[in-house]
Amino acid sequence: MKHFKKKEIGIVQKTECIGTDIYSMWIKTEASGLVKPGQFLSVYTKDSSRLLPRPISICDFTEDAIRIVYRVAGQGTKEFSAYTEGEEVSFIGPLGNGFPLLSEDAFLIGGGIGIPPMLALAKKLSCEKSIICGYRNELFLEKELAENGSFYIATEDGSTGTKGNVIDAIKANGLKAKVIYACGPMPMLKAVKQYAEENDMVAYLSLEERMACGIGACLGCVCDSTEVDGHSLVKNKRICTDGPVFLAKEVSL
Ligand code: FES
Repeated sequence: MKHFKKKEIGIVQKTECIGTDIYSMWIKTEASGLVKPGQFLSVYTKDSSRLLPRPISICDFTEDAIRIVYRVAGQGTKEFSAYTEGEEVSFIGPLGNGFPLLSEDAFLIGGGIGIPPMLALAKKLSCEKSIICGYRNELFLEKELAENGSFYIATEDGSTGTKGNVIDAIKANGLKAKVIYACGPMPMLKAVKQYAEENDMVAYLSLEERMACGIGACLGCVCDSTEVDGHSLVKNKRICTDGPVFLAKEVSL
């Protein structure tokens, strides 16, 4: 079974706070050679009373290191945020299917803590790409994203870029593409799915925000899926082991 992968031990190279409660960690590990954009690591805390790991998306990778970016949302992620250079970190991964790398013009859409995977994806895609990110108001990763594609920002309060959501930014800038890759909160993914249907686009959605353990152990990530194969069947899928990336038309959000 996919989730019985072995634990890896990596070494923290660098940690950094890049926004309010948002942290970046570079981990030196041989597992970097296996990474595809859109995959994640499930990271274990050192406190053995917390047995299940925390899934964290991969933001970037090199030949010998993986960068994860996450929001501190509980004791586990708080512990990770305090790690320092040279410290060991144990994880399983890379996990998940990741995004397919297609050659058609693409929108890379990230919302909130769904933004980090878009950086690795932007670096690996060689097609024309518009990167559209939705923030509450505070920006993060914006310089690196802007170096890897045409970059557009939407903020809830209009403090930077288009006031509104990522779809508002696409419309305001008259953007066009054939394929959408998206990761972010459920309301954003619903809006992206609808936009893709209305504009006859293929959309790949990462539902990683719904994950809890990331290794198939908690059943906290089950979603309804619609398989279109002549008849429509409704099936349950586990986001962590069957995804986290799904074709928009395959899932009911
Ligand atoms: Fe725990 Fe999928 S996140 S089973």
